[in-house]
Amino acid sequence: MDRRVFLKTVSGTLCLSAVRPWTLTFTASSAQPAAALPQLFGADYYPDQTDKSLWEEDARMMAEFGITNVRIAEFAWVLMEPSEGHYDFVWLHNAVDILHAHKIATILGTPSAAPPPWLTEKYPEVFIVSEQGMTLSPEGRRFTCPSNKLYRKLSVNIATEMAKSFANTPGIIGWQIDNEYTLGPNSRCYCKSCREGFQGWLKAKYGSLDTINKTWGTAFWGQVYSDFSQIPAPTPSGGPPNPGMALDYDRYQSHANVASMEEQLVVLRELCPNHFVTTNNVPLLADVVDAFDLYAKLDFVSHDNYPGFASIHAQGEGGNGVPLDQIAPIVALMHDAARSVKGGKPFLIMEEQSGKAGQPIFSPQPDKGQLRLWSYQAVAHGAMGINYFRWDTATFGAEQYWHGILNHDRSKSPGFDEIAQTIRELKALGPEVLQSAYGAQAALCFDYDSDWATAIQSGHPKIKYATDIGVWYGSLWAGHVGLDIVDATKDLSRYKVLFAPLMYVVSNEQANSIREFVGGGGVFVSGFRLGVKNSASLIVKMPLPGLLRDVMGVTLIDYVPLYTEKQSVKFAGMLTGPDADCQYWADVLKTEGAEVLATYTKGDHTGQAAITSNTFGKGKAIYVGSRLEPPAIGRVLNILAATAGIRPAVEAPVGVEVAMRHYGQTDTTFVLNHTSKPQTVTLGKSYKELLAGFRLSGAITVEPYGVRVLSLA
Ligand code: GAL
Repeated sequence: MDRRVFLKTVSGTLCLSAVRPWTLTFTASSAQPAAALPQLFGADYYPDQTDKSLWEEDARMMAEFGITNVRIAEFAWVLMEPSEGHYDFVWLHNAVDILHAHKIATILGTPSAAPPPWLTEKYPEVFIVSEQGMTLSPEGRRFTCPSNKLYRKLSVNIATEMAKSFANTPGIIGWQIDNEYTLGPNSRCYCKSCREGFQGWLKAKYGSLDTINKTWGTAFWGQVYSDFSQIPAPTPSGGPPNPGMALDYDRYQSHANVASMEEQLVVLRELCPNHFVTTNNVPLLADVVDAFDLYAKLDFVSHDNYPGFASIHAQGEGGNGVPLDQIAPIVALMHDAARSVKGGKPFLIMEEQSGKAGQPIFSPQPDKGQLRLWSYQAVAHGAMGINYFRWDTATFGAEQYWHGILNHDRSKSPGFDEIAQTIRELKALGPEVLQSAYGAQAALCFDYDSDWATAIQSGHPKIKYATDIGVWYGSLWAGHVGLDIVDATKDLSRYKVLFAPLMYVVSNEQANSIREFVGGGGVFVSGFRLGVKNSASLIVKMPLPGLLRDVMGVTLIDYVPLYTEKQSVKFAGMLTGPDADCQYWADVLKTEGAEVLATYTKGDHTGQAAITSNTFGKGKAIYVGSRLEPPAIGRVLNILAATAGIRPAVEAPVGVEVAMRHYGQTDTTFVLNHTSKPQTVTLGKSYKELLAGFRLSGAITVEPYGVRVLSLA
């Protein structure tokens, strides 16, 4: 998905209200051993775009600034291979050597996101073809097909030559493969290579055409295939595509991107066994590629964090973006995803905003304190290091307006001193904090099949998977509920509660895992449209919510898209509170043992159940059958979290974020004031403030955009 589209979608309805104060600390859980990695507080640096006469000065200034490492070369293919098969790494060795002489380590980027003009001229078949059949042009970047065998081979070749040349070069510590897979305006490709790749992938997955025809139901509209070569890609036709085929195509596209990345990984592992390997992306935002798969074989997740860019592209009042101080939950969601993708392993910010951010248009300069605050937010959610984007600011090229640590004239940018201070402080926190685990007792399910299947058939034009993920996450963020982002097939037993909005597709594996979780005492909170489809994108041939009907203790009487009709709910029991309006959808429920927590108040469904809670085994399963208008959804979700036993560590007002990391028996609590006003936070215990060294307890004031890092030790 395009970054801008995602931000509009996920921010559809920010929900920052309806929270209650709680106090109680998490119990410490197991320690995460500190990885054998150096401290990484660096900058993204472009010697390829900088006059050689400045390299020495840059390295000296960076060293003085406190930078430990750089990430370089990810767009420099044409300089490293100026013509096919002729390589020149001399300039890059020079740059690396100069940096190394100043004790600055290097992460090298492989350049497959931006091939040279000689390549695209000679091999025009490597371009992405958009869904509408438009062949992308080579003017920008990220325009190459993930399936094209030739392009993949050329990418592996350059990665191999780089790896051979730099395997034993002092100063090189690791690799970034490519740059932000699929994160461009045309993130899926529909070219001939992709269509053939899809056919081959289907053959391997299903074995026979017979199985494919049955699984997809190609009898509909007479689409029965008698040869693999007949299977199309889901491009515009005279009607929507077969939903099973379309879902498989999305899976294939994700697979093709992961497979092309892994081809480079094989080479780097073999030639550079002492270097770490990662790729930078924005998990969830780049939802064309399944982040759990993308990072499965990489050493750790690295992701790119631009809150200012997010704030101008997110959807706010009157289309003016979202104020910077309200973008925090969306940014927090990205960090939680980055941490969760490898089961809680600390992640690296490969690119962090360091000034005004944007391409043709750009965000305002962050207020004083915000750059530091955003760095702490990343660390609070599990970052182990941060690279700031970028060292200098380009005077040419498409990113002249993406402002770095130095201004265009190489003077200090407005954020210069603040970033230097942040780096000093974060280094001093040390590996016990930076490598520690995150203390989530609750999880939010992110299911790629449901995401993709909802995009294929949303049921209502306003229903978007990312919006519901954003609303549920934002609601719980405002209530200071720490969340891991999980794939529901994994072991869920460490969580007290699992939230699953819009889980439209439920596989047998997911159903079994959720059944086990609830049976064992967990609380499962589902949104509307639960379990409508199976993994083949077939509607289940059983009463809804399908495979989870027994767990939820309800059967759907009907599902109702809401357009001009008004619907609302009246709450009961533990949810008792003001009536709330429904948006876009209403699942009408009949209880089969479940307790009714809300009923519809209008039309034919007046008095019928909208929200229910069922006891199943030792746990509870709650069905939230409608899309409740904020802030009601926030009130409901936070009551359910509290009832499941989730309590934030610190009492804090809305706009102040509380996050906790832990290492052995030591907890570190981060209190982050995202507002432009001083805020009062109440500490239930006496803490040591790790940045200042003094002790704090009771009601404390956190200054605008201020940060407190608290330890009970
Ligand atoms: C990232 C990308 C960088 C740079 C930066 C600012 O998405 O990885 O190469 O473009 O954004 O635009």
